[in-house]
Amino acid sequence: MVQAPAKSKPILTIWDEFEHALSTPRYEQRGRERVLMSGQIHGQSANGSGQSMAGLAGRFSWTTYDVSTLLPVGWQDELLSIARDRRSFKVLKPPHSTSREAAEVSRIPVLTVKGPILRLAVPWLIRLYSCEFRSLASVYAREEAFVAADKRYAVVMNVQENDTSRYECHIDTNPIVGLLYVTTHPKGDGGELVVANNQFASNVTEVDRDASVLYPAAGHLVFFDGRRHPHYVRSLVGSDIRVAVAMNYYLAGNPESSRPEDLNLYLYGQT
Ligand SMILES: [Fe+2]
Repeated sequence: MVQAPAKSKPILTIWDEFEHALSTPRYEQRGRERVLMSGQIHGQSANGSGQSMAGLAGRFSWTTYDVSTLLPVGWQDELLSIARDRRSFKVLKPPHSTSREAAEVSRIPVLTVKGPILRLAVPWLIRLYSCEFRSLASVYAREEAFVAADKRYAVVMNVQENDTSRYECHIDTNPIVGLLYVTTHPKGDGGELVVANNQFASNVTEVDRDASVLYPAAGHLVFFDGRRHPHYVRSLVGSDIRVAVAMNYYLAGNPESSRPEDLNLYLYGQT
């Protein structure tokens, strides 16, 4: 008789068990002592590493999909050419409620291809944003993700050139950001996304002190929640251009209507 293969455990079950392990205290008897081994405890180490399990659970994490095969032939050259020809220059002027910059930083020049331009120039990108990428965002969030109705920030292209500075250190206001990398930047090349594990980091120095670093790879789509993790992009060192498409998604509990009213004024100079 042929035996049925053992069923693998559903992913959601594994996740639930992980959450349960983090929230349920677990003790071990060591001699006369009953030692707390795991569980949601604050301000003390539960794992011997000096960091509580709750602290580790709050560490930054992200999800990457290789979406190369979802992209049309010639996608990279097309987006690079739009980045070079259609980018515009603007200056961000911190402080803002979303900025995490030191007091002495008062101006950060940046290059972007504006959302309405992208919408007209690259219709296939907008279709992916609304369909396949939105589905992946929903899988990542484990609930339905929604696109942004406002064309200014739904999909934009961030461009860095070797004579422009890093991107601003900030937090996001939407629960899911998707980044489609158009260029590749290995370690040592600059242009990496640096994300604080410490939600209270208030400037680049503090972010750098304990950060997760993401190295862009062309054709990869990264999803993360940057609302509690200050982040910035380092200046380029070895490349002449860095291009990433930034896509904003929302969830029912954090809808587009919750976007701060003054954020558009800060980013685009208009409400
Ligand atoms: Fe961000």
